[in-house]
Amino acid sequence: HFNAVILAGGSGTRLWPLSTPSFPKQFLPLPNGNSMIQETLERVAPLTCADQTWIVTGQSMADLAQEHLPSVPPEHVLREPMGRGSAAAIGWAAAVLARQDPDAVLAIFSADHVIANVETFRQSLQLAYEWALQGSLVTIGITPTKPETGYGYIRFAEKLGEGHGHTTCRAERFVEKPDLETAKSYLADGHYVWNAGIFIWKASTFMAEMHEHLPDSARKLEAIADAMGTANEQHVLEELWPTLQNITVDYGILEKTRNLVVIPADLGWCDVGNWEQYGMLFPADEQGVRSVGHHQGFGSQNVVVYNNTGRRVYTIGVEDLIVVEMDDMTVICHKKDVQRVRELAEHHHKNC
Ligand code: GDD
Ligand code: MG
Repeated sequence: HFNAVILAGGSGTRLWPLSTPSFPKQFLPLPNGNSMIQETLERVAPLTCADQTWIVTGQSMADLAQEHLPSVPPEHVLREPMGRGSAAAIGWAAAVLARQDPDAVLAIFSADHVIANVETFRQSLQLAYEWALQGSLVTIGITPTKPETGYGYIRFAEKLGEGHGHTTCRAERFVEKPDLETAKSYLADGHYVWNAGIFIWKASTFMAEMHEHLPDSARKLEAIADAMGTANEQHVLEELWPTLQNITVDYGILEKTRNLVVIPADLGWCDVGNWEQYGMLFPADEQGVRSVGHHQGFGSQNVVVYNNTGRRVYTIGVEDLIVVEMDDMTVICHKKDVQRVRELAEHHHKNC
């Protein structure tokens, strides 16, 4: 069994106004009624057990996370005083687990992914677990379908082994969020996969990497872990946490390590980051119109409508639009501008 560590620190600003800092996207209901964070744990439940589940999240979201995942022991909800990036979030869980058992394996999941092929996913994790036990940093790779610049890219080299229907390859290089030209060249190269953001490694392996690449943070996280359960716990956390280097695991560790292997897997994976991706979860009609709540489209095509009001929404002959109709707000956005919803959210929080 591995320890399932769920990262739920993001605020999901590109899904505004549905996703807000106090109610971020990982808590939104999916069409089946579960939230993304609940699905995240459910998917891996057979491969772990309740007392080996962990959540790392911001102080402000921790109660909500615990409500959604009541089976996670309260002392396994690690509450960050503020976001210091995924290297710190993962490092905290690793430091705590390393104190209990250096050989403990952590499988780290984002709370905002949708995975269609759950059986395939579990098989890839079983192979990943075996490689993690051997001391590798393991990541799951997704065959890229477009030159997406928001992901990490991994060039896979020779095959190292196989099992559970999957192959493990040496990762030759890891490049986080390349620019468009570079991403295009990676697709043309044919030997790159996207980093799914699903990581499996031993607590001791990760702490050794932290000590090599982010030594100051490694020492501080160990001090925080040591203080846990003592009277000093809050004091040490509040003193040291803000001084941790604010960096993601991708830039801080994965681009630098020589110890990375990748397991390509066909997961039907989607990072639900923006309205177009979230809309893909809505039922579609023949015109590619996807709606939740009332919407009638007359000749409209490739439109996403989210309407959680009692009002009626009609569109005529429009294409490639996102329409979000909420009680106090309407947002209409061209699909080519979905990433810019973040700017809108920031503008709103500053001015309204
Ligand atoms: N607790 C905590 N604290 N969680 C965090 C923090 C933090 O400071 N920062 C990020 N996270 C969580 C987010 O909530 C999300 O679940 C996950 O870590 C990844 O963070 P994102 O901000 O969504 O990263 P990204 O999408 O830009 O890039 C990462 O994921 C891609 C795949 O979805 C990278 O790992 C890319 O390489 C990868 O392709
Ligand atoms: Mg993401």
